[in-house]
Amino acid sequence: MTRALVVYESMFGNTRAVATAVAEGLARTLEVRLVEAGAAPPTLDDVELLVVGAPTHAFGMPRPSTRADAAKHGTGPGVGAERGVREWLARLGPQPGLPASAFSTLAEKPAWLSVIGGAGRGIETGLTRLGCDLVAPQGRFRVQGMTGPLAPGELARAAAWGEELARLASGRPWRAFGATRSELTPGS
Ligand SMILES: Cc1cc2nc3c(=O)[nH]c(=O)nc-3n(C[C@H](O)[C@H](O)[C@H](O)COP(=O)(O)O)c2cc1C
Repeated sequence: MTRALVVYESMFGNTRAVATAVAEGLARTLEVRLVEAGAAPPTLDDVELLVVGAPTHAFGMPRPSTRADAAKHGTGPGVGAERGVREWLARLGPQPGLPASAFSTLAEKPAWLSVIGGAGRGIETGLTRLGCDLVAPQGRFRVQGMTGPLAPGELARAAAWGEELARLASGRPWRAFGATRSELTPGS
């Protein structure tokens, strides 16, 4: 069965809840592993679909200074974490042709915040730099305040996004889904 890896970071638990729902959606058709970025593997030899998610901090991916800021606003499972998806992606080697997608959580208000940007765009840039193939539009999920909770319906939407992502990845005409990574890498 095709193996998907979901890597996330989360200060207050909202992105973790979304990541769990995304993994549940993926698991309807794929074998899924869900890991927090600080514990994510340094290599992806057996991964055939990579999904990366983070909370939006200052219009982009969290960085050490914004994580420190977050700690002033509340507590949660990721408050105090030193490494997140930005640091994990920076250490990952090239992943040519690896199917991938990004998701983020964003504040619901003010609405203009999300027009400016979100962590998903930065994650997509990081994935593209590694050579990943973005197989689906990024997922964006709303939180009602800085520390949450998630807006109503977002967990169901996250699970549906995960399910759709699995479908889009398996529908790629150029790849034999379930083949090994070396078979998937053009020219190898
Ligand atoms: C330091 C900091 C900066 C933030 N900046 C933004 C922002 O630019 N845009 C936005 O929509 N939300 C912003 N937020 C709200 C976060 O998106 C929200 O805290 C997050 O989605 C909660 O997810 P988590 O529980 O997984 O940490 C910010 C939050 C913090 C703590």
